[in-house]
Amino acid sequence: MARILTGIQSSGRPHLGNLLGAIVPAIQLTQKKENESFLFIADLHSLTTIKDPSDRMNHINATAAAWLAFGLDTEKTIFYRQSRIPEVCELAWYLGCITPFPMLANAHSFKDKSDKLADVNAGLFTYPVLMTGDIILYDADYVPVGKDQKQHLEISRDIATAFNNQFGETFVVPDSIIDERIMVIPGTDGLKMSKSYGNTIDIFQPDKKLRKQVMSIITDSTPLEEPKNPDTCNVYSIYSLLANDLQIKDMRQNYEGGNYGYGHAKQALFELIVDTFSEEREKFNYFLDNPDELEKTLQEGEIKAREVAGKKMVEVRKKLGFSL
Ligand code: ADP
Ligand code: TRP
Repeated sequence: MARILTGIQSSGRPHLGNLLGAIVPAIQLTQKKENESFLFIADLHSLTTIKDPSDRMNHINATAAAWLAFGLDTEKTIFYRQSRIPEVCELAWYLGCITPFPMLANAHSFKDKSDKLADVNAGLFTYPVLMTGDIILYDADYVPVGKDQKQHLEISRDIATAFNNQFGETFVVPDSIIDERIMVIPGTDGLKMSKSYGNTIDIFQPDKKLRKQVMSIITDSTPLEEPKNPDTCNVYSIYSLLANDLQIKDMRQNYEGGNYGYGHAKQALFELIVDTFSEEREKFNYFLDNPDELEKTLQEGEIKAREVAGKKMVEVRKKLGFSL
């Protein structure tokens, strides 16, 4: 039995890119009988950038609601908030004390963020150490992540190995699972869909707002009557991610046949999103309207996660020469 673990930062409401690129594939992995899984909301990591407490609470709830709306089975998967497992902060301190400074200073993600952000805090710097704690505290075998997290996983492997070498075999050294087939979902401007670019499609919004977002997808200015190239069109590429083969074929014919405007294609995409995700949108809103239920579900997961974490920390403290 393999133990799978992954986390997603609660840095906003999950958008179509997060859903198709991270949440749906992770849920599929957790559904495999041979896996035991841990899924958590990395709310401590999001503190490196998000400072407003009410934003934090809203983002945590929206992230949890999205996972549950997409069918995460909390009977099979331990689902929890990182911040409710204090053992991870204790472990992160221990790990920080065996992590070479240059390893963190040279991490691409830190270098990128420290070039771009006005607030370069120490949390951004030690981000991979906390992430290592998240993983090895539970002896995870496999960690599914996006390509952007590859280096962080290498750092986690290095830190886990260093601990085992210095203090004796204690942690499983985790492997990453990076699915190269998962494509980068384009945003409304054709760049990678990302919260930081303001180009997202939030499928959980009310119809009117969702339609407005879909209508804002940037296209070229080929007139309605003329044939259009589907392969260079954003609307078509997002449509093809959700549609079945027949729908894709029809849409291609519409583009190539002329007399079919981008407005028509956008309307078809909007309808497809509403159709495809009707159940998920309803469940998402149900959870946001019933925060007590959300809280209860997370607390149940947190009891199970703390049990595993607590046992591991007894072993770790013993190895380090602290009292238990
Ligand atoms: P954002 O760029 O919106 O801040 P994150 O960096 O928080 O998103 O990503 C969370 C997860 O969603 C990661 O696993 C990432 O690989 C995945 N993801 C984010 N944007 C996309 C996208 N446009 N296409 C596919 N996957 C994505
Ligand atoms: N850093 C990850 C991201 O931004 C989120 C994360 C935090 C994570 N801790 C983790 C992912 C542990 C996997 C395992 O996407």
